Formats: sequence, C-alpha cells, structure tokens
Amino acid sequence: MSNVHVIDHPLVQHKLTLMRRKDASTNSFRRLLNELALLMTYEVTRDMPMQDIEIETPLETMTAKVIDGKKLVFVSILRAGNGILEGMLSVVPGARVGHIGLYRDPKTLTAVEYYFKMPSDMPERDVVVVDPMLATGNSAIAAIDRLKESRPKSIKFVCLLTCPEGVAALQRAHPDVPIYTAAIDRQLNDHGYILPGLGDAGDRIFGTQ
Ligand code: URA
Repeated sequence: MSNVHVIDHPLVQHKLTLMRRKDASTNSFRRLLNELALLMTYEVTRDMPMQDIEIETPLETMTAKVIDGKKLVFVSILRAGNGILEGMLSVVPGARVGHIGLYRDPKTLTAVEYYFKMPSDMPERDVVVVDPMLATGNSAIAAIDRLKESRPKSIKFVCLLTCPEGVAALQRAHPDVPIYTAAIDRQLNDHGYILPGLGDAGDRIFGTQ
C-alpha cells in the first residue's frame, strides 16, 4: 500500500491497545486518544515547511527555524474527529480548525453533508483531515471531495484505525492524499464497523453508548 503511513511507534501501539479494550472508561478512552493524537502529530508534521527567523539567545543572535502553524488547518469530520483535535492542537496551537458535518445513512452507508466551515485563504493552507475511524471510506471521500473545491495546498488524512477496504476506497478516490494511521485492522463487517476495531469511536469518546 503506497502512500499509507502506519505509525508503529511502541507508545502509539501500547495506547491503542488500551483504547481497544471494551472495559476502558470514557475518561481513559478520551485521555488516551488525546495522547495518541499528540504522538501521531509528530509523524504527520514531519515534512512541514520551515522558515528561518532571527532570534537572540542570552549569548548572541542566531538564525533559527520555526514552522508556520497558522498555515496548517486541522479539519475535523464531526463528531468523532473532534476527539483528535485537542491532542493535535496541544502541539500545534496556532493551527486553524475547520469542521465538516457528515452523517452516515444507516441503510446505504453513504455520507450526507450537514455542516461545512473552513478558514479563509484555503489555497495558502495545508490541510490535515482527522477522523478516528477510516471504515467504508465514504465519509473521508465525501469530506475530501468537498474540501478540494476550496483548493488547499495539500491534504493529508489521519485516523486511528482503518481496514483494507477503507484504505482501498480512499486511495481509489484520492490517490494524492496520504493516509496516516496507527493500525490497519482485519476487515469491515456488514454494518460498516472495523474488526477487531474498538467499537463506535464517537460513542466511546463522548460516552453516548
Ligand atoms: N466508525 C466507528 O466509530 N467505528 C467503526 O468501527 C467504524 C466506523
């Protein structure tokens, strides 16, 4: 699978295992998701452009590197994507945030849009779309279709978990969009859930089971 980055750092894998357990409380699930999002952001931002600025240390003037966080937009696919935002913003606090509201039609499993709000000047920005689960791929594909209308400089997709079906669908629709994930699980079931997975991510983040 080209253009798929599985983040196999032991800390990421350890926290993911704790999250998968059905007896993980809402509190610990949310905390672990924050920590995982923060760790995954290191990998996702690895190739972010840097610029040189002049600063003064206590001893002398030097030219030092900084990233321009404001050029980055984290786009959350509501509602589960919001669970990832906090961890990412804790390491890139200057990033802008966009939201896309899509719901999954329970019969067809296709994505229907109900909300779309992005920062201005999208053609100057690099976008990171976040959703914990890349399952059928329908929401991710619909979100990226819509985002491309605003012509951002680049788009990456970040999820916690995916499966071969989700990766194949997203890559077929958007081969230019790299996928970052902590794991590729075995398969999708008939209801569009990832197996072995971790259940309904939104319900587990917000305690709405
Ligand atoms: N969405 C979820 O929350 N979990 C899955 O397994 C698939 C889609």
